[in-house]
Amino acid sequence: MTEIETKVVRIGHLQKLKEAKQKFACLTSYDSLTAAIFDEAGIEVILVGDSAADNSLGYETTLPITVDEMISFGRAVASSVKRSLVVVDLPFGSYETSPADALANAIRVMKETGASAVKLEGGQRSADAIKAITDAGIPVMAHIGFTPQSVHSLSGFKVQGRGDAAAQLEADALAVQAAGAFAVVLELIPAQLATSVTNLLEIPTIGIGGGSETDGQILVWTDFAGLSAHAPKRFVRQYAQIRSTLLDAAKAYRRDVMDGNFPNESEQF
Ligand code: KIV
Repeated sequence: MTEIETKVVRIGHLQKLKEAKQKFACLTSYDSLTAAIFDEAGIEVILVGDSAADNSLGYETTLPITVDEMISFGRAVASSVKRSLVVVDLPFGSYETSPADALANAIRVMKETGASAVKLEGGQRSADAIKAITDAGIPVMAHIGFTPQSVHSLSGFKVQGRGDAAAQLEADALAVQAAGAFAVVLELIPAQLATSVTNLLEIPTIGIGGGSETDGQILVWTDFAGLSAHAPKRFVRQYAQIRSTLLDAAKAYRRDVMDGNFPNESEQF
């Protein structure tokens, strides 16, 4: 199959990929160095996820991260990306209070980061916020299924949409599409349901723990690169072992310093 090429990934390109049944890859990033690498690798979407909260800032959940913190991460990523579509998460508390608050925070994120879109969580309950933001000309990626900002009301990290809950998930998917979302993340739902939502929707679906039939896939970069100390979740494939590489490097450096082997003559003035 010939790949549909583009110099810059825009939301229309993702739509074309869906229509041509070509899959695309997304990764999170929270800094300029990894963002530049993922951009160079051809990753279509770089998400400045609020997973920066637990993967970069050391918080337990994504709940504490603020709009200001998301803006710092978003600016770092957008500054080094040339081709990928950069999407920044609206954090917990920045869009639930009213569509007007959602729009005001989305505008801040767009103005202050240089990203091309925002993402927010929730299906029917977030439809008014999505509509307010998209009506103002800002592309919105939706996120349904397991939504980490609702971890407490969902009683932990659990597969969503099983049994009778599948109908609600389909209703949520249709609601975010009708509200104007250009794509929707489907997190931690049965593969069969992710397939039926992908067939039901005109907009692209992006899976994480949703099987292989979604239009795109997304992984948290610290998971896919093996940087996290915790055991990978079932749906994660680790493409590198950065943690053990860095650990070995740090140990070797310390040993060289202790033994007087670093720096050597060519490493000094
Ligand atoms: O914040 C994040 O990393 C996300 C992905 C899991 C989709 O929302």
